Amino acid sequence: MKFSRKDLLFLVIVCAVLALVILVSGEETTRKVPYDALHRPAYDVMAKTGSKRETEKGCEGCHNDQQVRFPPDHPPKNRCLFCHKMERVPR
Ligand code: HEC
Ligand code: HEC
Repeated sequence: MKFSRKDLLFLVIVCAVLALVILVSGEETTRKVPYDALHRPAYDVMAKTGSKRETEKGCEGCHNDQQVRFPPDHPPKNRCLFCHKMERVPR
């Protein structure tokens, strides 16, 4: 079987679109809230209240200038969970 120029062009376009999709979705790599012992209480609050705002109240008990520091170039951080998604918790 032989490829025509048209086939080739089609292939190139498909690859380009795929590459773009991967690139764009790659932008969404802001770390998730780890599902570990430290963050389990936050997951519990989320499960109980279903409220991001309520859950976020706990974050700054640890994530502050004294304890778990933010990277120096961290964006404005009043609503943690808008950017840092929580893991899907199997329940
Ligand atoms: C009991 C203290 C504590 C609380 C409360 C807490 N964290 Fe953390 N968090 C840590 C520590 C310590 C680390 C670094 C070690 C680790 O990854 O577990 C961390 C790491 C992280 C990371 C980086 C994970 C990574 O992949 O590098 C994110 C994002 C984060 N926390 C978000 C949150 C958010 C959002 C909340 C509130 C819902 C929260 N944390 C509440 C202690 C806490
Ligand atoms: C506007 C979006 C945004 C908000 C709101 C936000 N963050 Fe972040 N955070 C980021 C980005 C972007 C990074 C750096 C990229 C990454 O996470 O890999 C980051 C990094 C972090 C890290 C370091 C992760 C690492 O690399 O180990 C922690 C911890 C963290 N954020 C916690 C928080 C907490 C706690 C809050 C709420 C008080 C918060 N963030 C609010 C976007 C946000």
